[in-house]
Amino acid sequence: MTRAVVRGVGHYLPERVVENDWFTTFLDTSDEWIRSRSGIERRHFAAEGQTTSDLATRAAGAALADAGMDASQIDAIVLATSTPDLTFPATATIVQERLGMVRGFAFDVQAVCAGFIYALANANALILAGQAERVLVIGAETFSRIMNWEDRTTCVLFGDGAGALVLEAAQGQGTAADRGILATDLQSDGRHREILKVTGGVSASQSTGHLMMAGKEVFRHAVEKLATSTLDVIAKAGVSITDIDRVVPHQANIRIITRTAQKLDLPMEKIVVTVQDHGNTSAASIPLAMSVAQDRGELSEGDLVVTEAIGGGLAWGAVVLRW
Ligand code: ACO
Repeated sequence: MTRAVVRGVGHYLPERVVENDWFTTFLDTSDEWIRSRSGIERRHFAAEGQTTSDLATRAAGAALADAGMDASQIDAIVLATSTPDLTFPATATIVQERLGMVRGFAFDVQAVCAGFIYALANANALILAGQAERVLVIGAETFSRIMNWEDRTTCVLFGDGAGALVLEAAQGQGTAADRGILATDLQSDGRHREILKVTGGVSASQSTGHLMMAGKEVFRHAVEKLATSTLDVIAKAGVSITDIDRVVPHQANIRIITRTAQKLDLPMEKIVVTVQDHGNTSAASIPLAMSVAQDRGELSEGDLVVTEAIGGGLAWGAVVLRW
């Protein structure tokens, strides 16, 4: 039975680190408020002229190096972003060209903060369908470009960055002991699209717009939906919550992460937390956290991992994989 196995992981963060105190130079806020409400202490911002494809290409290069592969061995790139370089072509094709990859195919996925979960599920489906053997799955964002710097309730929460995984088809016994993706769960509900959105867009206003969020409502949906999706995907994978070695949640807010863990009765020692250093990097947050966790020794081959995310749409989902 075919499984999509993680062969490599990598990330890239722009050089500029912005501590919470920076916001106090132009907003009525404080390090204490930002830390206590979100868990965020600092974030990285892309330099002027540095685009999502720049970050994505660096992260992809790191993942390929970790896998011991080069771009010519990759059949497809699936890139999750809500901050593409251009309206079109897809940022994935820019990365394809910059990696020197002259065959295969590349496309973007847009599911905001759930983007990497959607990209992973799509890449898994491509592998299981025999469309591709090796897929580069990337999450990359430059959310600093869509912030309203006068809105203290949102601009303090986000950061820029990129992360990537290399998935490869492998044959296994078809049990939960095999490495690779065991189950995926994708959900969305467009009735809630007004509570988290960017106010511009090509077709509606020919503008870029700024992020706006009804924070309390998003918080409520996040804890409830992430817990449900996690339980559903674990059941689909045929494992139980106590079998899980590591949880890699979307890094939006420490309070969402801890509340969801409490709801699922998961001890915090099992949860990967990077939000303090990266802020919310939307679709980049999960592969970034996976890469950092592997560097820290918190993710090892054979670990049973669940990863989950929610974002604008609302769109959410979860994946269970044996690392
Ligand atoms: N600094 C100081 N004060 C602030 C700031 C700030 N940066 N932002 C808001 N405040 C003030 C508000 O104006 C308000 O003041 P008031 O009582 O005088 O009106 C007060 O703090 C409380 O504001 P709330 O919005 O009620 O604060 P809350 O406790 O809900 O925290 C937060 C806000 C952190 C956004 C919270 O709602 C939250 O965590 N929401 C989850 C949303 C999230 O993380 N989304 C990420 C994107 S979606 C995703 O990735 C899942």
